[in-house]
Amino acid sequence: MSHQRVIVVDFGGQYTQLIVRRVREFGAYSEMVPWTTAAEKIAAEKPTAVILSGGPRSVLEENAPTLDFSVLEGIPTLGICYGQQLMAHRTGGRVTGADHKEYGQRELTTITPGSLVSNMGSNSVWMSHGDQVVEVPAGFTVTASTETCPVAAMENVGIKRWGVQFHPEVTHTPGGKAILKGFLDNAGIVGDWTAQNFIDEEVEKIRAAVGPEERVLCAVSGGVDSSVMAALLIKAIGDRALCVFVDHGLLRKNEAEQVEETFGGHFGANLKVFKEHDRFFGALAGIKDPEAKRKTIGAQFVQVFEDHADELKGCDWLAQGTLYPDVIESGSPTAAKIKTHHNVGGLPDWMRLKLIEPLRWLFKDEVRAVGRLLGLPDEMVDREPFPGPGLGVRVLGEVTPDRVRMVQEADWIFRSELRSRDLHKGIWQSYAALLDVRSVGVMGDERTYEQPIVLRAVESEDAMTARAVAIPFDVLEWVATRIVNEVQGVNRVFYDLTSKPPATIELE
Ligand code: XMP
Repeated sequence: MSHQRVIVVDFGGQYTQLIVRRVREFGAYSEMVPWTTAAEKIAAEKPTAVILSGGPRSVLEENAPTLDFSVLEGIPTLGICYGQQLMAHRTGGRVTGADHKEYGQRELTTITPGSLVSNMGSNSVWMSHGDQVVEVPAGFTVTASTETCPVAAMENVGIKRWGVQFHPEVTHTPGGKAILKGFLDNAGIVGDWTAQNFIDEEVEKIRAAVGPEERVLCAVSGGVDSSVMAALLIKAIGDRALCVFVDHGLLRKNEAEQVEETFGGHFGANLKVFKEHDRFFGALAGIKDPEAKRKTIGAQFVQVFEDHADELKGCDWLAQGTLYPDVIESGSPTAAKIKTHHNVGGLPDWMRLKLIEPLRWLFKDEVRAVGRLLGLPDEMVDREPFPGPGLGVRVLGEVTPDRVRMVQEADWIFRSELRSRDLHKGIWQSYAALLDVRSVGVMGDERTYEQPIVLRAVESEDAMTARAVAIPFDVLEWVATRIVNEVQGVNRVFYDLTSKPPATIELE
């Protein structure tokens, strides 16, 4: 089935991905296309609507990013910021460098009743621009302005073109969603793209791609992406999806059991579990340096696959949990590049099989919605990001079974106390780690000389920056009490208040 689609032309704006997400929230399939290739794509695909993004350049510069507007004829188009300026500049209006740069929250002072921007419910908008439109093209009317911006919005309904100088896609423009919705309604978008029909179509695509005798190797880690990917493959090709789970002993409490229960039990998948605790702990013995630990864990992964090669060699495809943001970042939405297998630390060469990436069109929240519909348990679908080397980077110093046990127990207590109070919502990651020092304490009448646990909980948008979460003191105190009482070998608990930067989210 072919969907209505909305092409978002990217002129290098920092919010372009957000536009795509917003459009998808209205149930319309949307794709981001770089301006350099947009004209051909639009001409070939005849999308239902086009949105021109913002961007850092000036339309007045030589070699400024541009678009052949003739391909847009008859296609409803919304220009945002740079997109509006380009629309004006290329179709007979005029743009100048403004005397005052507008940056931040602004109030619209005039709004034309009945126009696209008249249904916002709030006059507050988010501006971020230097240039501005000073004359609209023939046939357009100015539909909003601010004190310093004469054309905050313009439209020509006859040819289905709209422009806004501000950013409707950011939450700082409270009425922004109404504008995008209004535009999509005007364009005749009906909202025919849902998680359910994504599943139906992807299942069909997988069946069409993978030959009837072929098999797909699917490494599951317990994380959201690999779990959803596996569930999708199982639905599509049943036991020809060979799910492999390497249990290295460095997962959190109950996670390995959950993977086995979900895939082996609930889904009845063709699941191979390689239980390799001894191998990993053996290789990690005596290693304290963080990088050396990561390398060792990565190398052991490769070794596990090498050692089980006979069981895996019948596979023709390798499934990878690439998501849309990775696709966008790689710069080429159509290139099926083999990237580093970041979650398993590299795979052997013979595993460079044909690559299948069933989630490559989805954002993380869409992956979660698909996972839920496929019947994955909430704990898996809502799982926080977890590093590939697992608790190996949360046990500072040497990684031994006993030290991993301490982290698993403390982590379980911390996160279940957060969950039972509903404090986990809005937290990006929360965990317990074990420091590589000892300190003195007293328990009963006995002096102790044991190890401290560090608790960390951060809020973040994308893991690039992060801030410690203000967990109520009484909760922290109760968690500390429980950990020291219940986790043998721990006699002190710290809470990490550092933001990223200068710290990182993980301790190693
Ligand atoms: P840092 O500690 O660099 O972490 O602030 C940023 C995000 O990346 C996760 N992380 C990893 N993820 N393999 C992964 O798949 C790794 O080796 C790894 N190291 C850190 C970390 O949990 C956080 O979400």
